Amino acid sequence: MSRTLFAANWKMHHGPAAGRALVRAVLARCRPQEGRELLFFPPAPSLPAVVEEAKGRRDVAVGVQNVHWEAKGAFTGEVSAGIAAEAGATWALVGHSERRHKFRETDEQTGKKVVAAFAAGLSPMLCVGELIEERRAGRTEEVVLRQLAAGLGGLDAAATARVVIAYEPVWAIGTGVNATPADAAAVHHTIRAWLQSRTPPASRATVLYGGSVSPANAAALLAEEEIDGFLVGGASLEAESWLSILATPRPSR
Ligand code: PGA
Repeated sequence: MSRTLFAANWKMHHGPAAGRALVRAVLARCRPQEGRELLFFPPAPSLPAVVEEAKGRRDVAVGVQNVHWEAKGAFTGEVSAGIAAEAGATWALVGHSERRHKFRETDEQTGKKVVAAFAAGLSPMLCVGELIEERRAGRTEEVVLRQLAAGLGGLDAAATARVVIAYEPVWAIGTGVNATPADAAAVHHTIRAWLQSRTPPASRATVLYGGSVSPANAAALLAEEEIDGFLVGGASLEAESWLSILATPRPSR
């Protein structure tokens, strides 16, 4: 059975106490399921509490939302991949659209962050996605492939195969307007084809969709063979909606 990954991006929500309570409530009602992996991306100071709460659950992992590309140094306010790993993270989100567009993070920086994540033993999840004006101009494929090339440019084929990609159209994030399953699947197909030509023959990339995923649209999106799971913001912030998404059946394939 192929892997299904459900990742919760809490953004700047949930300190250690609220994070711990949410993970406890979710895990109490969500038993491990063959082929399904859960991931939590809390704010960095909440990492240890969330890690502790998830202890003993091999289907659950915890990641940091952003890392600096340097291992250490005079970078006030930044967190290195090594420090995040020491705090219990095993994953790192890289190139989220809010990092790219609100903090002006460049393609080149995402590439360095992916390399830094690997160097510290973290699994990177690279986010890619186009702006609405880029989609309207028919430039979606060009933008997504440019972000992939830059984000993965520092890796060899074996490492490339281990990076999870999250396709998140910027216009769908936090707007309540999700990409249609068919539109998302088309971009996933492009991403997968690009990766296939750069990774060992037997590998199958894990490509997630993100952008206004909700209990109402999760089943239709996950029914697409191209979609291996979700990166979810708003609907992952409270137990009921997150549990409902986690219960989405994935057609066997
Ligand atoms: P959203 O956010 O689910 O609230 O649209 C997704 C994300 O930013 O990863």
